[in-house]
Amino acid sequence: MRKPLIAGNWKLQKTIPEATALAGELKNELADFTGADLLVCPPFIDLGVVGREILGSPIELGAQDIFWEDTGAFTGEVSGPMLKSAGCSYVIVGHSERRGFFGDTDEVVNKKLKAAVRSVLIPILCVGESLEKREQKVTKEFLRKQIGASIQGIGIEWIARIVVAYEPIWAIGTGLSASPRMANKTHRFIRELFAEHYDESIAKNLRILYGGSVKPDNARALIAEEDIDGFLIGGASLKADSFATIARYSVL
Ligand code: 13P
Repeated sequence: MRKPLIAGNWKLQKTIPEATALAGELKNELADFTGADLLVCPPFIDLGVVGREILGSPIELGAQDIFWEDTGAFTGEVSGPMLKSAGCSYVIVGHSERRGFFGDTDEVVNKKLKAAVRSVLIPILCVGESLEKREQKVTKEFLRKQIGASIQGIGIEWIARIVVAYEPIWAIGTGLSASPRMANKTHRFIRELFAEHYDESIAKNLRILYGGSVKPDNARALIAEEDIDGFLIGGASLKADSFATIARYSVL
């Protein structure tokens, strides 16, 4: 049985006082929540205050990115040991905005994934096709290549720790969510890929989150699908009530 994971990706939003306030509201809303894992991924600068604010609540802390080296002359970067020391247990790797705006190739994503597992952080590996690929009907081929390259060289002992987030690029921040059926079909395909690369047990236990315009309105129908194990939420994670509503729907 896969426990759902409901994760908020705050992206480039929330100053330190704003992040403190939101974390406090989330803690109040979700103090007694059980049945799913809860995660917030604020910007690096907010990790300290958010971590302190959610202490003693069921909400865990994650980062939005990681550098592939642990230490050294890499101005502006943040490493796995640093995230660990800030109280993170998860880290998002390969978000399409990192891939699109900052040039994170599959090779870079692979190095970051390895850095995350080396620091005993749970990576949330983001994958997903563009509208162009979807319209060309090459989503499966694209995902096969993207996932294969991202997980290359990651042994079975490490892969058991990772979470995958399927985030079709055309659904992110657009209000256009994939239909539950379409998302589930793709999740099932991703699970099959992990069975091919590793084994049935890894595939069966792999948590695959859906991301892309998840809102309280569509969360219930999406989570009802067999292969959707939770969400990576952008916009709707920025309000405590909508994040909490989605979390509650995931355990109904
Ligand atoms: P939205 O929920 O705002 O579409 O963002 C999804 C996302 O990119 C989460 O990582």
